[in-house]
Amino acid sequence: MSLMKHTSLRTRAIHGGELPHAPGRAVVPPLHMANSYMTPADLSFSAEDLTPESPFIYTRWGNPTVAMLEDRVASLEGAEEGLCFSSGIAAITGLFAHHLGVGDHLVMTNVGYAGAVEYTYDMLPQMGVSVTHVDTSDLEAVQRALRPNTRLVHIETPCNPILRLTDIARVAALAHEANALLSVDSTFASPVITRPLELGADFVVHSLTKYLGGHGDALGGVIAGRSSLVGPIRARIGTRVGGVLSPFNAWLILRGIATLPLRMQAHSDSAQQIAAMLAHHPRVTRVVYPGRSTHPQAGLAAQQMRLPGGMLTFQVADGDAMARQLQQRLKVISYAVSLGHVHSLLFYIGTHAIMRSTFRLTGDDLAAYKAYTGEGVMRLSVGLEDPDDLCADLIQALG
Ligand SMILES: Cc1ncc(COP(=O)(O)O)c(C=O)c1O
Repeated sequence: MSLMKHTSLRTRAIHGGELPHAPGRAVVPPLHMANSYMTPADLSFSAEDLTPESPFIYTRWGNPTVAMLEDRVASLEGAEEGLCFSSGIAAITGLFAHHLGVGDHLVMTNVGYAGAVEYTYDMLPQMGVSVTHVDTSDLEAVQRALRPNTRLVHIETPCNPILRLTDIARVAALAHEANALLSVDSTFASPVITRPLELGADFVVHSLTKYLGGHGDALGGVIAGRSSLVGPIRARIGTRVGGVLSPFNAWLILRGIATLPLRMQAHSDSAQQIAAMLAHHPRVTRVVYPGRSTHPQAGLAAQQMRLPGGMLTFQVADGDAMARQLQQRLKVISYAVSLGHVHSLLFYIGTHAIMRSTFRLTGDDLAAYKAYTGEGVMRLSVGLEDPDDLCADLIQALG
């Protein structure tokens, strides 16, 4: 596989993680639906003794199809090792559970995937972990939040749901100066657009459910990074806590990743066209898209993102009423949560509702959030339908 290192991302998306001779010499990876494997008689059964050389023992420890996916993601992200989980949130909370204990401190993005932010408000304090929520696009705020007991800084870029960006290289430098590690949820970008490890992050995390899987059919999550950091998480959290990925989902996600570079280009091209249409639509008051010069951090987008991606947000005068109208009138686009797959998905995120239970922002942080969203945003995940059809659907539904 050393040849793979020198191939391009498009080639690695198809061949990364392949073994020289698959069983039966199948060209396309076969699916290994087995929960245990024949082992030598003297093999230790403890997660403590798990090494990269260990044979497959039991699928919670490791499985050939899941291992292929882990290697493929590692090869795309430039990581030594990948570790899959049953969902994106299982990967994130697994990372937190491994690195944070009583007396430790986490610096957490104050806006991001709702489940992750809510977990840091509700669960981590119960475990004796203190958390400071900050706008990680503000480097001074990150610097101020760091403490001697900060073990981890967790950011999302572009962040869900508002597409705010964080400068990965500069936050990595701040975290490392404070002897903390940096994890980056790069779900919105995918390794085609941004590779956080190359910019100094210690971990990259993905919801495989989104762009990597890419077809809206399988949940999964992954952590990738140096083996010295990821290996212990496999033993402690994967094997013992057990939220591992099903081989069937791994197989579906492997199939999805094969077309990831082509899909990300198409998602980006279509989103660029739709963002331009929406920016001139009389019902639309604002569009936020990393590919437009009007994005509040267009400079950082150009520097850190190879493509602008498939996610955009827009605002209208009365978001609640328009959400009901779009839900009823859209024909090609589905009014639904989730993102990052072949179907276009639109969902309204009202500021008032999300403040109550999720982001809990006040003062300057709330003002910064509203600067991106006003009273709420339509979040659009642009799928792979013809962009002309998507524009026509939005135009007829907006009225
Ligand atoms: C940025 C981001 N991270 C993590 C997750 C959680 O992923 P999953 O739904 O696979 O648990 C999501 C889900 O929407 C997300 O958008």
